[in-house]
Amino acid sequence: MYKAAVLTVSDRGFRKERPDTAGPLVKELLQLAGYEVALCAMVPDEQSQIEAFLRDTADRHLADLLITTGGTGFAPRDVTPEATLAVCQRMTPGIPEAMRSASARITPRAMLSRAQAGIRGGTLIINLPGSPKAARENLEAVLPSLSHGLKMLSGAPADCARENG
Ligand code: MTE
Repeated sequence: MYKAAVLTVSDRGFRKERPDTAGPLVKELLQLAGYEVALCAMVPDEQSQIEAFLRDTADRHLADLLITTGGTGFAPRDVTPEATLAVCQRMTPGIPEAMRSASARITPRAMLSRAQAGIRGGTLIINLPGSPKAARENLEAVLPSLSHGLKMLSGAPADCARENG
């Protein structure tokens, strides 16, 4: 069973002006897919705080998969992609490509997500948009394929031809 972490990035959520609905939804979707959600946290839209959580979670290997929700749009304080780029050692562009491609069939505004994904150490980090609807639609587009990637990331032999999920 892979371990997951969920980080909600939201100024208003952090100030308790709005309840966090996307974070708990992502947690539930991950659990339904068989992940153990080892930690959930919330930070404001501050690049240094987002980076600190990503680095700490990856470097202590508290999670194999780290999902962020929020801060991927064009607003001046949307900096989750920049934090992700700063901490990742290898980017995995196919994941946001797949999310935006699937999302474009649902809404033309899918193009407005600047979500990134990449690897730091043994942790795969993926950005999702902040609304529960968008977070669900983006995560569901890639979730079935992630365990195969995590298996390869762990160094276990993975047969790409056979495990074609
Ligand atoms: N993707 C899907 N599947 N469904 C959506 O409703 N909303 C878009 C986009 N991606 C959306 C989506 C919108 S309107 C924005 S602004 C961006 O995600 C960024 O969202 P964020 O700023 O909450 O991270």
